[in-house]
Amino acid sequence: MKKYTNIFLGTAFSSSSPKDVQILKDNLFFINTEGMIEKVVAPEDADYQPLLDAYSGDENFHRLAEGQYFLPGFIDLHVHAPQWAQAGTALDIPLYDWLNTYTFPIESKFADVAFAKNVYHDIVSALLANGTTTALYFATVHKEASLVLAEICAEKGQRGLVGKVVMDNPEQTPDYYRDADAQTAIADTEEFILAVKELATRTKQGVYPVVTPRFIPSCTDEALKGLGELAAKYDTYVQSHCSESDWEHGYVQERFRKNDAFALHDFGLLRAKSVMAHCNFLDDQDADLFAETGTAVCHCPISNAYFANSVIPIARLLAKGVEIGLGSDISGGFSPSLFDNVRQAVMSSRMLEDGVNTALPAAERGVPNSRITINEAFYLATAGGGESVSLPIGRLAENYAWDVQIIDTTFATAKLPLYDANEDLHDIFQKIMYLARPENICEVWVQGEKVHTR
Ligand code: GUN
Ligand code: FE
Repeated sequence: MKKYTNIFLGTAFSSSSPKDVQILKDNLFFINTEGMIEKVVAPEDADYQPLLDAYSGDENFHRLAEGQYFLPGFIDLHVHAPQWAQAGTALDIPLYDWLNTYTFPIESKFADVAFAKNVYHDIVSALLANGTTTALYFATVHKEASLVLAEICAEKGQRGLVGKVVMDNPEQTPDYYRDADAQTAIADTEEFILAVKELATRTKQGVYPVVTPRFIPSCTDEALKGLGELAAKYDTYVQSHCSESDWEHGYVQERFRKNDAFALHDFGLLRAKSVMAHCNFLDDQDADLFAETGTAVCHCPISNAYFANSVIPIARLLAKGVEIGLGSDISGGFSPSLFDNVRQAVMSSRMLEDGVNTALPAAERGVPNSRITINEAFYLATAGGGESVSLPIGRLAENYAWDVQIIDTTFATAKLPLYDANEDLHDIFQKIMYLARPENICEVWVQGEKVHTR
């Protein structure tokens, strides 16, 4: 009898396509020593009963209790870890002013490694408790503190993709918070890449370095060029903010006479492993360039309500075949929960479709065909995120990592409204997506290891 590290029995929900959620009722999941799902067996399969008989007495056999369900762990494609220190505050002014008044001052404090450690421990734990098993992080300009964030992810068992932020443009950054110059920024980024790669050799779930120009305004051409070269040299991930707001989009058009997408591409920053946050102002050519280069869009629906002056036409981008995932954008977005962002993604898309200005006739108010479904928003938070970072995560299927959140719909203070013993499983899925709270997440696993218990 083959030995598995863990075997799980229960009902799971997993995206089979952007529009479809597959319901794996009472399936068996066999997890190997690498933390990968080696085999999934359904009750209708011939070997189901023999396997159940053989393994159900095993000490590593886990049967979900009544009212519990597996969801894939969420993949948060855009988190500013240092901004956790100001989450839920400072949402009252436009992007440019917000950066200068609140955000650069708080990020500059991460020169202090002890302060950084404190905040980074909390944000990684908070994200795990909210079901986020993989996170793509912006740290700060500080090389040491950025490495601390990668180490904390490694230690807590979260799959962390971490970037030391580059911002060297004296015209768009304050004296107290900036890389010394382009060469220093590039040299520090290279050292950071090497240090994270070394850490990765000791980290089961993976940690990855990310080349991270903050956004075009905060970087000189020399820095952008050097970072593009580093990304190619080490075949790393790349992240930045792209065409986010009227101001930022306009700034780039003025500086380069083109949109962010083409400007970033000129510097070698649009690659298969690139993830660009926001992208609200992408036009059709920009979107085609994203699709051609394999660059992913990270949709940050809560943050966009505050800083993007727009709702991204996500349905149009999905139809074009652009890879898209979901991001909290802490602290432009206040919530560490991708459940909250899934909900906002659906609600924002409905408001875009119908329009909101009642001074206009109903037929002229909105943008037709803009809505996305809860299934599509779930896809963005899971399988779409996995595709965006080209890793076998975000689905509960063979050859994917065992990254899961176990949802308990019966928890006393957060009981979901389920009153029919034979309730349709897709309705249960929808109730979980709309109503689940962190208390309903009773366990979180990453790469076959339990990393959070309620
Ligand atoms: N653009 C440049 N930096 C930031 C940031 O920290 N948050 C958001 N939302 N946009 C940015
Ligand atoms: Fe951001």
